[in-house]
Amino acid sequence: MTQDLQGQIALVTGASSGIGFGVAQALADAGAAVAINYHSHGEAAEDLAADIRKAGGQAFAVGADVADEAQIDAMFDSVIQHFGTIDIVVANSGLQKDAPFVDMTLADWHTVMNVNLAGQFLTAQRAVREFLRREPRPVSMALGKIICMSSVHELIPWAGHVNYAASKGGIQMMMKSLAQEVAPHRIRVNAIAPGAIRTPINKAAWDSPQALDKLLKLVPYGRIGEPGDIGRAAVWLASDESDYVVGTTLFVDGGMSLYPGFADNG
Ligand code: BGC
Repeated sequence: MTQDLQGQIALVTGASSGIGFGVAQALADAGAAVAINYHSHGEAAEDLAADIRKAGGQAFAVGADVADEAQIDAMFDSVIQHFGTIDIVVANSGLQKDAPFVDMTLADWHTVMNVNLAGQFLTAQRAVREFLRREPRPVSMALGKIICMSSVHELIPWAGHVNYAASKGGIQMMMKSLAQEVAPHRIRVNAIAPGAIRTPINKAAWDSPQALDKLLKLVPYGRIGEPGDIGRAAVWLASDESDYVVGTTLFVDGGMSLYPGFADNG
């Protein structure tokens, strides 16, 4: 991997497992100093930070619930205290609380909206404030970069997951509206829409041969994604290589969003 992000400082939310873990690792491999946010798995975040430091990089773990404004503020304060500022923010924290629509509780609706959508709002807002607070930095052409972790379900409806799909649909328009608003300040806001990536959130969909076989019918490219696939996309979106990419959702999904059911039908 190139060292495109040398000298830059990144914060990744929800980075103690899954996609966030892979993104934090990839940003560190590309030379960025990384703040690894966690909510409940502090040990995994500390271990990742220690591994990055052992490999010669800079990293530390920082706990915060992204749905809580005071905790978001404290997290940004601690990253700025630690590294001086922030250049790259990956708003990644997310969860699922699945249920048939008629049984979905209001509490589960709110939890998913608070973490997935309000959490990204708060994270991005605090990032924009920090970018505007300081001068541009020679390490990057942009004043700052924000990457929102969306999903193929910002596009593909998902029965039994109405709260989750609604939160990802919300991220799509939040990201684009924010991108339009802050682009004149040379802040780039983009999103990644992962498909089926091998992580704890969807373990049931890949941890038996039968489940994997069923899942792969939805993936024209014929394999499940790995966190590294998303990590490499995040490195590119965070780097000057993508300097003219503004307000775009990059689908990294092995073709899942190509309506594979239509390949021999319709
Ligand atoms: C969900 C996963 C799912 C994938 C593809 C993701 O956003 O979190 O559970 O496997 O979309 O459907």
